[in-house]
Amino acid sequence: MELYVDIADIDVIKAIAQYFPIDGFTTNPKIFTQAKQPVPVLMAEYKKYADETGAKVFVQVTGSTAAEMFEQAKMLQSYFGAQFVVKIPAVKEGYQAVRLCKQAGIPVAVTVVHSMMQALVAAKAGADYVAPYVSHIDNMGADGVSCVAEMVTAFRNGGYPCKVIGASFRTVDQIKNLAVCGCQAVTIAPALFDALIAHPATTESVKGFDKVWSETFGDKQVSDLLPK
Ligand code: G3P
Repeated sequence: MELYVDIADIDVIKAIAQYFPIDGFTTNPKIFTQAKQPVPVLMAEYKKYADETGAKVFVQVTGSTAAEMFEQAKMLQSYFGAQFVVKIPAVKEGYQAVRLCKQAGIPVAVTVVHSMMQALVAAKAGADYVAPYVSHIDNMGADGVSCVAEMVTAFRNGGYPCKVIGASFRTVDQIKNLAVCGCQAVTIAPALFDALIAHPATTESVKGFDKVWSETFGDKQVSDLLPK
């Protein structure tokens, strides 16, 4: 499962990447409005980071027509290079822009997806990813995880290489259920990352190890006990 962090702040991306095996990061217009640094500064930092690490960079177009979206996608790809994936909203103009981008060799994630059919048409149009907003689907009274499972099944049955990158999570359980249903990628807000790996039983057991070890070996470490 590909793992992305959903944030604009490059220092947060780097901090998370120190502990978690992320494949890159995703942004969107709302996320940029919350950024601590000016967007041009962030864009330069993204390019440097992507060039150094191979991390994928997802940036969403802000145009409203297919032509505007396509022009922006070309400019963004020209700047970021091979690690770039353009995010195009699942609106009618966006579906035309998807095909223009794919003809131009620009990887595409169709985003702001809330239904199986939006995802299917995007996959048919050649999208590399579709990004369903799991919690938004839940909030509408549907089941976000089930909707993603249907996308994964439909893409597999239809032979579409398109990947589902789940987005908009409130709980680790949502992410777990996506992994179980074969969702190929998720993008997660920074606040959820520590919760991915936290478990009280692990904390308690490690504390127990430390206690009995220090009672037996004092402050010696295991490497101190290697034969001289
Ligand atoms: O990538 C989409 C994500 O940023 C939406 O998150 O918190 O608005 O549901 P949220």
